[in-house]
Amino acid sequence: MLFASSIALLLASTAVHTASAACPHMLSRRDARVLPQGHPAVDGSIFARDNAQGVQGSVDLNSLEKDLTKLFTTSQPFWPHDFDSYGPFFIRLAWHCNGSYRVSDGRGGCDGGRIRFAPELTWADNANLDKALKLLEPVKAKYGAALSWGDLISFTGTTAIKSMGGPVLGFCGGRKDDQNGDASLPLGPSAQQQAIHECPINGECTAPLGPTTIGLIYVNPAGHMGVPNPVGSVPDIRSTFKNMGMDDRETVALIGGGHAFGKTHGACKLGPGKCGSGPDKGIGRNAFTSGFEGQWTGTPTRWTNDYYVNLLKYNWTLFEGPGGNPQWKPAATDKLDADDAHVRMLTADVALLHDPVYLKLVKEYAADVKSLENDFARSWYKLVSRDVGPATRCQGSRVPPPQPFQNPLPAPPAKLANFDAVRADLAKILTGKAAIPGDGALGQYYGALFVELAWRSAATFRITDHFGGANGARIRLSPEKDYADNVGMDKVLEVLSAVKSKYPDGLSWADLIVLAGEVALEHAGSKPLHFIGGRVDAVDGENPAPRTYYSNATVAARDTMQVMGFTPAHYVALAARLRSPSQQARLGLGAKTYTSHVDAFSNDYFKILLQNHWVPTDVVSKTGAKQYKSDGYGEPRFVTDADLALIWDPEFRSFVEKFAQDGQLLQTVFVEGWSALMKADLVGHNDLAM
Ligand code: HEM
Repeated sequence: MLFASSIALLLASTAVHTASAACPHMLSRRDARVLPQGHPAVDGSIFARDNAQGVQGSVDLNSLEKDLTKLFTTSQPFWPHDFDSYGPFFIRLAWHCNGSYRVSDGRGGCDGGRIRFAPELTWADNANLDKALKLLEPVKAKYGAALSWGDLISFTGTTAIKSMGGPVLGFCGGRKDDQNGDASLPLGPSAQQQAIHECPINGECTAPLGPTTIGLIYVNPAGHMGVPNPVGSVPDIRSTFKNMGMDDRETVALIGGGHAFGKTHGACKLGPGKCGSGPDKGIGRNAFTSGFEGQWTGTPTRWTNDYYVNLLKYNWTLFEGPGGNPQWKPAATDKLDADDAHVRMLTADVALLHDPVYLKLVKEYAADVKSLENDFARSWYKLVSRDVGPATRCQGSRVPPPQPFQNPLPAPPAKLANFDAVRADLAKILTGKAAIPGDGALGQYYGALFVELAWRSAATFRITDHFGGANGARIRLSPEKDYADNVGMDKVLEVLSAVKSKYPDGLSWADLIVLAGEVALEHAGSKPLHFIGGRVDAVDGENPAPRTYYSNATVAARDTMQVMGFTPAHYVALAARLRSPSQQARLGLGAKTYTSHVDAFSNDYFKILLQNHWVPTDVVSKTGAKQYKSDGYGEPRFVTDADLALIWDPEFRSFVEKFAQDGQLLQTVFVEGWSALMKADLVGHNDLAM
């Protein structure tokens, strides 16, 4: 359950049940440690954490590395290693655990360690990775609850690269394990995934889904829809890695850096477990995983740039591999280097020669191993750390300096402004006692607009990958300030600018925006909101883009709730925030009629939703919301499909009914939800943390 509070208990029967069905992350409160912003978490060779899901204590990464290095070279009869090392196998495990991450909604990734469960473990691409997990069991048992599976898998892959001479930037620890694989259901195949975004032809899936083929981490190795045409594979590679948040440079460095190691497995056409005979039937040299067979370089347990060298050196020729699949080998006329007798490529490898940007990078890496090392180390770290969130969430002794993908923020000021004084200034605006730039243009009462600004700023937060949120105040910057939903927010910032300039030191925009929203809510009669300051202003970086791909408003509302990390009760309660229809109309946000009393925090909104009959109009707002008009009772009112989703969805509706009946209950749940959201991105204060 999200909040340990009396009201959460009051709502328990519905909230707990539905939270678990909707998102396993919300089953228990998982506090992050209280850590100062802008500092890597813990010093020494130890990382530690404390949460309700049983990850406690600390892990000595040096000792863990030693144990793993021994594990890599100790072959186990149930799944013997290739070339005297499990290193490449574990790199594949870490890659597949992390490669499910998608930027669209921050879902996927290794945080949660869900590759241990269905649906991920049953994906075709993850064949035989159950063996890799089994090999890790003794290490997991040794470190127990102090080491999550997510951290173990990612650290093992990173250590494997290092153990074979590859470049490593560092390690960001701090993943927490899920209890089951449910949070991966939206990745597909599942009814949830179908609702969020359909993939009518598997193999041609598009964003927000990550891969082109559900069940693959990346692209079809045999080529687009299995057609071994390298040219056709290029768009699949580009879109899949883009959905994962990778640019061309990172893509080429990752594929060739990864395939510096190991081999593909497809010893014969009979399939898994059936190749060979005798004691090594189906294992070792008779293993069948992908159904392709071969290695990319002559030295598959040693870091080199030979993948790129080989791509350029040989004339790759299509043939049918022993597993019956299309593969590529050097032409018969090619003069092979001594250890290259078994080098093979997949269609998706050869594709890198068939795109001008990829080809340029292949040439660069073939000629300059240092450039590859720099790019691979960075890209691997990004691949395996992306879903942990900002660098401030990374724990352990090997955390490198914050990277651009982590959207780092400046250090907080040594001394914060006197927030009581700021409150007093904000109150003057709300009571009409302050001179306002451009006064009159937005109407008289600014409270509803302050609340809207704070909400818009904070509601970018995603529990799925911990990006977004009010900290950084990126709502002032492009592209966020230009999003359709943020129309007019620049004008609200202008109103606040007089207060901002009064406190040149110690008052960030991010704090001011949140505080203004809270002062306005309290002024309108909300229970106290217990403001926490210390946010800073970003100079660059982006919050996650709006998710505009939903098929209807109900799906959008339910999915947004999950991505933000809310229970249904809190999600519904937050919809009652103050909003002034006339001001919103003036800002170009479309006519909506939530309440007749914009300066009072009330449950009017829910009453209006329930007590009217709504008929669709032809009006679609700038943000794509369909407008509905009340029919029958009193003065006509207008709402959108996003509002009506709260009564169309039966579970949401049950909370709408409760709140319409009980204004006090609404107050309590609202304050919990609002407070949690406003500090969701403050390390150490996170009630929404997974
Ligand atoms: C193995 C395809 C990207 C690392 C494999 C296998 C296939 C494949 C088919 C063979 C699995 C088996 O039969 O055992 C691809 C494709 C990619 C891609 C199509 C993208 C276009 C990557 C990336 C990495 C990586 C980004 C890591 C950074 C590995 C490693 C192995 C492997 C280390 C060897 C595993 C072993 O020796 O057991 N890949 N891969 N691959 N892949 Fe990739």
